[in-house]
Amino acid sequence: MSNQQSAKIAPADGKLGILIPGIGAVASTFMAGVELVKRGAAQPVGSLTQLATIRLGKRTDGRSPMIKDFAPLAKLDDLVFGGWDIYEDNAYEAAAHAKVLDAGMLEQVKEPLSSVKPMKAVFDQNYVKRITGPNIKQGGTKRDQAEMLIEDITTFKQNNGCDRLVMIWCGSTEVFGRPTAVHQTLKDFECGLMKNNPDIAPSQIYAYAALQAGVPFANGAPNLTSDIPAMLDLSRDRGVPICGKDFKTGQTFMKTLIAPGLKSRMLGINGWFSTNILGNRDGEVLEDPGSFKTKEETKLSVLDQILQPELYPLLYKDLYHSVKINYYPPRGDSKEGWDNIDIFGWLGYPMQIKIDFLCRDSILAAPLVLDLVLFLDLAQRAGMKGIQEWLSFYFKGPMTAPGLYPEHDIFIQLMKLKNRLRHLMGEDLITHLGLEYYD
Ligand SMILES: NC(=O)c1ccc[n+]([C@@H]2O[C@H](COP(=O)([O-])OP(=O)(O)OC[C@H]3O[C@@H](n4cnc5c(N)ncnc54)[C@H](O)[C@@H]3O)[C@@H](O)[C@H]2O)c1
Repeated sequence: MSNQQSAKIAPADGKLGILIPGIGAVASTFMAGVELVKRGAAQPVGSLTQLATIRLGKRTDGRSPMIKDFAPLAKLDDLVFGGWDIYEDNAYEAAAHAKVLDAGMLEQVKEPLSSVKPMKAVFDQNYVKRITGPNIKQGGTKRDQAEMLIEDITTFKQNNGCDRLVMIWCGSTEVFGRPTAVHQTLKDFECGLMKNNPDIAPSQIYAYAALQAGVPFANGAPNLTSDIPAMLDLSRDRGVPICGKDFKTGQTFMKTLIAPGLKSRMLGINGWFSTNILGNRDGEVLEDPGSFKTKEETKLSVLDQILQPELYPLLYKDLYHSVKINYYPPRGDSKEGWDNIDIFGWLGYPMQIKIDFLCRDSILAAPLVLDLVLFLDLAQRAGMKGIQEWLSFYFKGPMTAPGLYPEHDIFIQLMKLKNRLRHLMGEDLITHLGLEYYD
């Protein structure tokens, strides 16, 4: 390994504060999981940073270190948690409410989770219609709210003796919105904050506060949030990495596994019908058509971008794609997602694939939160700024440079992620050409 590259990365010394707007099912499952893993009471299944290896050099070299031993990532023992929510429940109470983890497991980490008390949230019910709560910042303009968040960030950092911070949005899905004039330049955005422009969503006030405070920002929901020109400018100006949107779990995760496979064999698809039942608070928020529309957009775009019907009209031009989410309380966080895929093969003969994925939403999302905060912190220490496309692997709607279509194929995304790490650490990239074995 060339130390030249890795020497440029600041070491992961001291504590890393993880600030989370939205301490609900995902955030509390993530925090509980880290605390359980730290105690040796459970394993971090699903996390690349904790379990995956990375091959270096030739296949014959036998060099496959763990990613966490290869790249200088923060240690789980150095993570400190904080955040905001409209409810006053601490992280233990939020986890108990979410009912993702069983009571026996949760009890083991009651103490550290109970100490995570949410700060007062910046909230606007026009953006999340189905819920409201008592723990909300009152009064002031959106500019004042941003300042209050920056103050929260500074105070948290001081009180917890953190060296560095990362923010990750695990708040509810906000109503659908496209970028408007106020989102175009930083000047427009800041003017909009002062004038309380209704097009500025709460999640955008958090993202703005994070970036202003030099804190990397990830967006786990499909909201527009930081995917606007003003925020891209700010992240570059402040030298801060950002990424999003919408954790790739559950049904869309399955879709991005299967669709590239069918396409790789040039099999056609006539229809893809996806439906879900989901009973957690996320499901309740998504009952609102405005919030569902935001989710639907990222869920629908995936297939189009993987299958490229413009290049393969014979196979995918007429694909009928439908995604439904139904709120069904009895299942709680244990979602069930059905897919019916109508495909066709040689000479156009039809076939069908049925998938019934009985998944656990937050169990799938929690390791993604862990990886994202550790990788974003690494990116920040390596001086990387703006959109982190190598983290597309984690998202349904990966952010990309303006005008560039996102890469949705999970295997290409994984290769991109690992090559980024190799590049960062001064190792040769792996192209999979493999000629050297046959010379
Ligand atoms: N679980 C998954 O697999 C998954 C996958 C992709 C995306 N997501 C997204 O992640 C987010 C979190 O999911 P969840 O299951 O934890 O939902 P949740 O409803 O349990 O938690 C969200 C929390 O955000 C809070 N909140 C809403 N607006 C806020 C604001 N302005 N400031 C601070 N807090 C706010 C809510 O009070 C709630 O406690 C959702 O947007 C969801 O769509 C989840």
